[in-house]
Parts: sequence; C-alpha cells; structure tokens
Amino acid sequence: MFSSVAALVLLVLLGAACASFGPTLQRCPADFQLVRRGQTISESEARYIEQKRENVLPGAFKTYLQSVKGTGVQLPKYVEQILESKTQLPTVGISTSGGGYRAALFGAGVLNALDARNVSSVQKGTGGLLQAATHLAGLSGGSWLLTSLAQANLPTIQHLIFGDGKTKDFAGWIPSFSLWTVSDDPAEQAIFAQEVLQEFAVKAKHFPVSVGDAWGRALARHFTNGTTLATLFANTSHGAGILFSDLVNLPAFASHEHPFPIIVANLASKYINGTIFPGGNGIIPLNTPMFEFNLFEMGCYDDVLAAHTPLKHLGTTNHSLCVTGFDEAMFISGTSSNLWNEHNITLAQSTANFSILVNETYPQSPALRLDTSNYPNPFHGVAPETFADSRETILALIDGGEDAQVTPLQPMLVEDRNIDVIVTIDATPDNFALGGSLIATQERMQIFPHGLAAFPAVPTSLAGFAAENLTSRPTFFGCTPSSSSSSSKAPGPLLVYIANGAPPRDGSPPLTNTSLGQLTFTDDEMQGMLKQTFDVATQGAVVGGALEDEEWGACLACAVVDRARARENVARSGVCTTCFARYCWEG
Ligand SMILES: *[C@@H]1O[C@H](CO)[C@@H](O)[C@H](O)[C@H]1NC(C)=O
Ligand SMILES: *[C@@H]1O[C@H](CO)[C@@H](O)[C@H](O)[C@H]1NC(C)=O
Ligand SMILES: *[C@@H]1O[C@H](CO)[C@@H](O)[C@H](O)[C@H]1NC(C)=O
Ligand SMILES: *[C@@H]1O[C@H](CO)[C@@H](O)[C@H](O)[C@H]1NC(C)=O
Ligand SMILES: *[C@@H]1O[C@H](CO)[C@@H](O)[C@H](O)[C@H]1NC(C)=O
Ligand SMILES: *[C@@H]1O[C@H](CO)[C@@H](O)[C@H](O)[C@H]1NC(C)=O
Ligand SMILES: *[C@@H]1O[C@H](CO)[C@@H](O)[C@H](O)[C@H]1NC(C)=O
Ligand SMILES: *[C@@H]1O[C@H](CO)[C@@H](O)[C@H](O)[C@H]1NC(C)=O
Ligand SMILES: *[C@@H]1O[C@H](CO)[C@@H](O)[C@H](O)[C@H]1NC(C)=O
Ligand SMILES: *[C@@H]1O[C@H](CO)[C@@H](O)[C@H](O)[C@H]1NC(C)=O
Repeated sequence: MFSSVAALVLLVLLGAACASFGPTLQRCPADFQLVRRGQTISESEARYIEQKRENVLPGAFKTYLQSVKGTGVQLPKYVEQILESKTQLPTVGISTSGGGYRAALFGAGVLNALDARNVSSVQKGTGGLLQAATHLAGLSGGSWLLTSLAQANLPTIQHLIFGDGKTKDFAGWIPSFSLWTVSDDPAEQAIFAQEVLQEFAVKAKHFPVSVGDAWGRALARHFTNGTTLATLFANTSHGAGILFSDLVNLPAFASHEHPFPIIVANLASKYINGTIFPGGNGIIPLNTPMFEFNLFEMGCYDDVLAAHTPLKHLGTTNHSLCVTGFDEAMFISGTSSNLWNEHNITLAQSTANFSILVNETYPQSPALRLDTSNYPNPFHGVAPETFADSRETILALIDGGEDAQVTPLQPMLVEDRNIDVIVTIDATPDNFALGGSLIATQERMQIFPHGLAAFPAVPTSLAGFAAENLTSRPTFFGCTPSSSSSSSKAPGPLLVYIANGAPPRDGSPPLTNTSLGQLTFTDDEMQGMLKQTFDVATQGAVVGGALEDEEWGACLACAVVDRARARENVARSGVCTTCFARYCWEG
C-alpha cells in the first residue's frame, strides 16, 4: 500500500496518459430502430441461443452427463436420453443475487462448483452445468461477477478472482483495496477522486453525469481489465473503453460458449407510490417497472412498457443522431449496484462525497438527480398511459435489488425465453440468506403476470423458509407445476434454490456470511469463502446422519431434465423419485 503522496504522484506520472474514452454521436444507420415494442426477445438474442443450442449444448450436456455418471449413482434411462439428445435438451438459466462482495464471491463459488473445468466439481457430479447453461443473470454484486467473468472471456473462477499471474491486463479483483475509499490519506484519496472524475470528462460534455459514473469507474478498477495492484493509482484508462455491446466479439461469445448475460436494474420513479414490500427491505415499490441490460438490448419486459432499445446505441433518443460508446460495461454494472439513493448505508460513509464532487467538476441541471445512474430516456413518449416515466427525458436507474427482488429471476421468467430450470443463487439480504427475495418475486408476479411464465409457489414468509431450513440446503420449487385454469400458460421453470443460509455442517467457523459493508478481503478470506461455498453447492442435504448427500449430483440432474421429461410424457422414476421427495418444497 502506498503511504506517501510522493510515491503516489510518481506512479501517476509514470502511468500512461489517459486515452479519451466516452460516447460519440454520429448520423444514425439507415435501418436504425430506436424502440422495439413487445414482450418477445430480440432476433439477435434468438439467434445467439439457437447457435448455442446447435453448436455448444450437445457437447456440454454430454460432458455434464459424464460428470453426473461419474458419481456412480444409477440414473433413470430418461435422464440420459434427454441429456444425450439433440432436440430435447433443457434450457438452463442461472440467476446470481446481489449482496456486494459477499454475493459476488458466493455466486462465484457456485459457478465454480458447476464448472466442467474444475476436477473437484466434476468429481462431485455438478461440474459441467455452467457450460450447459444458456442464460446467466446478475444483479448488483452478482453483476460484478457476471461482468468481470464476461469481459475476461470466461476464465475459471480461480483465474478470474486471483488473476492467472500471466496476463498483465487482468489481475483479479484486487480486494486488498476498497472500492471507493482507497486511502485514509485525504491527499491520496483526492488524487484518486480526480482521476475517476476525469475518466468521464468526454461523456460529461454531452450527457448528464452523476455519482453513477464515478461509481462505475471506481468499480472498473476491480472488475474489468486494465488495472493491476501496481497500476491501481496510475492515471490510465482502467478499462474505460470496454463496452457491454462489444463483448459479443470476445471468443467465448463468438463461439456461443458464454451463457447469454443479463443485468437487472430498478427505476427510481417519482410517479410511483405503491405499497412497499411488506418484508420491509424493499426501498422502492414492487409495482415499479424493471429494466434489464442484455448482450444486445436494454429494456423492460413488464407489460406496462414492454419496450427495448439497442444496447450499442444507448444514450440515443431519436432517429437522426445515434450515440455509441455509452454502454460502458462497468457503468451498467455500477447502475445495477447503485445504492446511493439509500443514505444510511456503509458505502455512503466515504471520505469524499462523490455526488458533490461530480457536480463541482461538471455542474448539472438542478433537476437532475445526482444519486442515480442516469440514461437519456429512449422510451420518451412510449406507452404514456401505463408508463409514467414516459414523460421524463432521463431514466434514473438504481440497484436492481431495491424492490427486494435481490435475485434476478424476472429475466428468466420472460415467456419467450422458455427457461426450464433456474439455478437460483441467493446470498441476501445480508450475512446469511433468509429467502425474502423469492417472496418478493412471488408477490410481484401478482402485479405483472402478463407475458411472464408461471413462477412456482414459495413460502409466503421468512418464517416459512426458516421452519423447513430451505436456505440451509438446496431446495427445488415448482416440482408439480400448478395446472391453473388460465392454462394456455406454460408450466414455467423449476427453481433449484441454492442459498447462503447457514454455517458449515462440519462445525468450522462460518466465512461466507460477511456483511454488505465489508469491501476489502485477503486472498485467504476469499479462498475460505469459495471453499465453503463449494460445499454448499456440492453437498446437497443432510441425509440420515451423513453431512453430505451422495446422490446430490444425480438429484440436480433430475431437476435439470424434469421439464423436458414432462414434455416427453415420461414418468419420473428411480433415483429421481427419491430426489424429488428429498428436495422438493410443495407448500
Ligand atoms: C491524467 O492524465 C490526463 C491526460 O492524459 C491529464 O489531463 C490529467 O491531468 C491526469 N490526471 C492526474 C490526476 O494527474
Ligand atoms: C480481458 O483480458 C482477458 C485476459 O487477458 C482477455 O482474454 C480478454 O479478451 C480481455 N477483455 C477485453 C474486453 O479486452
Ligand atoms: C406520490 O406521493 C407524493 C407525495 O405524497 C405525491 O405528491 C404524488 O402526487 C404521488 N404520486 C402518485 C402518482 O400518486
Ligand atoms: C437527436 O438527438 C441529439 C442527441 O441527443 C440531439 O442533439 C438532436 O437535437 C436530436 N435531434 C432531433 C431532430 O430531435
Ligand atoms: C442513519 O444512521 C444514524 C446512525 O446510524 C441513525 O441514528 C439514523 O436514525 C439513521 N437515519 C435513518 C433515516 O435511518
Ligand atoms: C452527498 O451529497 C449529496 C448531494 O449534496 C447529499 O444528498 C448526500 O447526503 C451527501 N452524502 C453524504 C454521505 O454526505
Ligand atoms: C449541481 O450544481 C448546479 C450548478 O451549480 C446546481 O444548480 C444544482 O443544484 C446542483 N445539484 C445538486 C443536486 O446539488
Ligand atoms: C432444521 O435444522 C435444524 C438444525 O439443524 C434441525 O434441528 C431441524 O430438525 C431441521 N428442520 C427440518 C424441518 O428439517
Ligand atoms: C457469521 O455467523 C456466525 C454465527 O453463525 C456469527 O458468529 C458471525 O458473527 C457472523 N459473521 C458476520 C460477519 O456477521
Ligand atoms: C476447484 O474448486 C476448488 C474449490 O473452490 C478450488 O479449491 C480449486 O482451486 C479449484 N480448481 C481449479 C483448477 O480451479
């Protein structure tokens, strides 16, 4: 750590000059379409998934099946048939929750346990499901994990978090330094702040800027290429040119190996006064429209808006002048994790108030909120009867979990995505998980059912989760899809719920229940968290006296194929019957 300003200044001077990155405006392409209406997915997304199904999934599911079979548990014939078929392959989504670094690490630990490249995960019979997943959604801390993984071209989790010691570009998450307050020395902190502010000077010339821009730039030092421990304080670009829409060009995307990435954000609307989620931890009402950023679009699937805009031209509001370069990866992830509208959080206790600093450097209109992440509203004038913010010129977006849905399940429920099973990773609200995020999604489905697949029944109270230990062992929800009367609706996905809910079974001290406020970690702490998370994701339930379920790998596979099984009209049998009795919550 640098203790003297002199050393720091020297480093700054040595640093390469900061190239100027930022949005630019050009005449729009002739076929430019600013807004796509509807609750169906884009053609680009459909093509990505189709290619993934063609070229990646058959091999990926074969590898996964080998891993499951390696555990020696006898699988019913239909499980093998489905996983070896080309046409019946299931559609698997993974949703990884918010919860700061704790969630980023817990999510990473689960992804590692599902990764075919990790021998231990393969031995447990869970390795390979990551490669077979078609969609991956992240929110807040979960979006740090997702963005960092995607932009680094899908490395292993060990390489992602700790660096591989080879590539000078990407050196891991650099968790020995905090995100905002990098130094106790006010002079050092001030230089850091100046650099962060300069990095969006180009953007500030044409667009409103706020704390969200500073936050994204600060996060980029940890979660995108361009910063190492040695260059943390250097005046370099720190990944400023990495755009979310450009990820499609990386090899892991060009080959369709990477699951289709989706990041979720909430809208801070002054027009919506709904009922705050009764659980008490929702800051904004559940009836507020939600937004998602995916590889190709930013938009809203709720029927009140049902509109999308090309990600590549984010910032654009008409058909004559098109913006590019607005969709900086960490600005988007910083939007999904922007909690600056909540005043009393630990993050806000920073030595420098970036809201004030931003406005001093780039004076903004008094009408602009400085605590939100601000986007020129591409949906201006769209759906004015049902979308109140249609009249706004700015969409003010905030952390995707502020409506209490802290696990990004909503994108997986878009009917047109046809997701069969959602691996639902929950590390919220704080410390240990309680289940409230699922309750919030269940309640929101009552408000916005249209165009969304059925969401399985989950308990209606936290006590319901606690009474049956649903957060301390994997749980399946939706094993028996409700045959509702309005039955044109598909059965909806089955949820495989893996929560960070309890201390290790072997009695060792818990490491994964760190608080939202903990923003620095040693490598040992992080390895400890990953190890305990590995156990959470690979042990299954306590069976008899044993701390580990030898059949868990097989049980997970039974859940993965279950909707495909139902489509084929085959009855559940063999170990899958036992597994469903053990893991299903039926209300
Ligand atoms: C960083 O470099 C840019 C030019 O590349 C320069 O304008 C700026 O003053 C430098 N910032 C600091 C804090 O030294
Ligand atoms: C980030 O670095 C990794 C490792 O060097 C590389 O594979 C990847 O292409 C880089 N990503 C971007 C967006 O430059
Ligand atoms: C929301 O509440 C505020 C303050 O109570 C009020 O001024 C505003 O009119 C309400 N808006 C709606 C849409 O009900
Ligand atoms: C289109 O948008 C650009 C950038 O926001 C703006 O400068 C321009 O005035 C707009 N043109 C029309 C015709 O509205
Ligand atoms: C903010 O935090 C302080 C100190 O922890 C507390 O006294 C105060 O009541 C909090 N304010 C709100 C609005 O929660
Ligand atoms: C930072 O400044 C903003 C804008 O003046 C203010 O609303 C907020 O309370 C300040 N936050 C802190 C932590 O001082
Ligand atoms: C930002 O600065 C402008 C110009 O100095 C001022 O009018 C505005 O009120 C400030 N915004 C906030 C939220 O403090
Ligand atoms: C929940 O876990 C506790 C402690 O491990 C155990 O005593 C209890 O029997 C479990 N309850 C159920 C319904 O499994
Ligand atoms: C984690 O949980 C244990 C008890 O299970 C508790 O003693 C410890 O304080 C918790 N850690 C944090 C950071 O809250
Ligand atoms: C596999 O996962 C375990 C558990 O997290 C970890 O200790 C090990 O380093 C991983 N192996 C590789 C090659 O990433």
